[in-house]
Amino acid sequence: MEFSNEYPTHDPEWVQDMHANHYLQSWSKQGSRPRVITGGQGSWFWDSDGKRYLDFQSQLVNLNLGHQHPKIVQAIKDQADKLCYIGPAMGSDVRSELAALMTQITPPNITSTFFTTGGSAANETAIRLARHYTGRHKIIARYRSYHGATGGALSLTGDPRHHLTRGDMPGVVRMQDPYCYRCPMGHSAPAHCPVSQGGPHLEQILQFENPQTVAAVIIEPIVGTNGILVPPDGYLQSIRDTCTKHGILLIADEVMAGFGRTGKWFGMDHWGVEPDMIASAKGINSGYVPLGTLSVSKQLADWLQEYPFPGGLTYAGHPLACASGVAAIRAMMEEGTLDHATKMGEKMRAELARMADRHPCIGDIRGKGMFNGIELVKDRDTREPLVPFAAKGADAKPMTDMMGFAMDQGLYLSFFSNVIRLTPPLNISEDDMMTGLEILDRTLDIADKAR
Ligand SMILES: Cc1ncc(COP(=O)(O)O)c(C=O)c1O
Repeated sequence: MEFSNEYPTHDPEWVQDMHANHYLQSWSKQGSRPRVITGGQGSWFWDSDGKRYLDFQSQLVNLNLGHQHPKIVQAIKDQADKLCYIGPAMGSDVRSELAALMTQITPPNITSTFFTTGGSAANETAIRLARHYTGRHKIIARYRSYHGATGGALSLTGDPRHHLTRGDMPGVVRMQDPYCYRCPMGHSAPAHCPVSQGGPHLEQILQFENPQTVAAVIIEPIVGTNGILVPPDGYLQSIRDTCTKHGILLIADEVMAGFGRTGKWFGMDHWGVEPDMIASAKGINSGYVPLGTLSVSKQLADWLQEYPFPGGLTYAGHPLACASGVAAIRAMMEEGTLDHATKMGEKMRAELARMADRHPCIGDIRGKGMFNGIELVKDRDTREPLVPFAAKGADAKPMTDMMGFAMDQGLYLSFFSNVIRLTPPLNISEDDMMTGLEILDRTLDIADKAR
């Protein structure tokens, strides 16, 4: 097809051609011709044929307030009219306002924030700061994790994408996950399992590694991409206590779990645990402009009065991003978003439990707030997964068939291995959520048949 000089072009075939031939898409083989999306509003988006889709994924689990929230859009427009860019060392009203707002919503020990362009850069900066502060080099990360796509963050990542580093950053040590439905140690209850208790497993690793060489432990408080794994009560506190005992920093990767996704500002808040650093992004401004944060404790902030911050970005604290962050956080406060997400989450899990009576493929239902997952199995007693871990191609067919069916029915879903993630916008209406669950109900027939 000829190059089009029209801007913006509205010819969907041209968009697909350019996508297939000249655009490189994340984590995929190239050449796909996707549906062309022309608009969105609230929990819905639509394509060039006018077909509407209910966004049960919030795109990349970042549209916490849905598509085109008017307060965020207006804040970006207002800031664009006022000042589009000013360097990170200059004073900026929206930047200072966002930094101040962060202290209101993070745990009490967290006082200061560095702004980034996303979650990877936040984690990258967190591990560098941890290494400078402690003078140690090792970072302990878990297998069932995703921490980002830059060199260090992908090395910390435990899911199969970390093989793409072709040689991880030196110093990464792995820890097992408190995945109680499939306990890595074969225990039937968390109380008997050193991994699910947290501290005992970490202590064992530290014995081998020498705690004096470990700068930080990084964890997603509730694992997102890798299957919505909620830790048992006591786990995070036990990890916290063990880190404190050995002078190791605890980094909470709240990139997906943060900003109300779980019904609280941060995943850690469910257990009242105070990490030394919080990395976040995504929901902070519903992803309308790239933005991430690394928030640090008073102890670290005090140290940084004497020691230069070991990181920087041209776009650190970009005014358009900060303006959208301020607007999003204020909108969540004004609109009671966290309470709504908590209520909708409870309703969703109750509906899923009812669905499990009809669908033998549902092995486990878990989540908090609007951060939910259902794990699909061939057999409830043996818990044999419906598809193998990280299945792709023909092995993943039941899962990809379900995604295709749901999309045809107007429901946008996502999965990892044998887990369907259910992460709609936090402000989804009850009616919309029930519409999505009704389509999901029919979608699960595919999994039942594939058992
Ligand atoms: C827990 C977690 N950490 C880090 C990242 C990376 O964030 P970004 O893609 O904004 O760099 C993600 C992205 O999905 C994530 O889920």
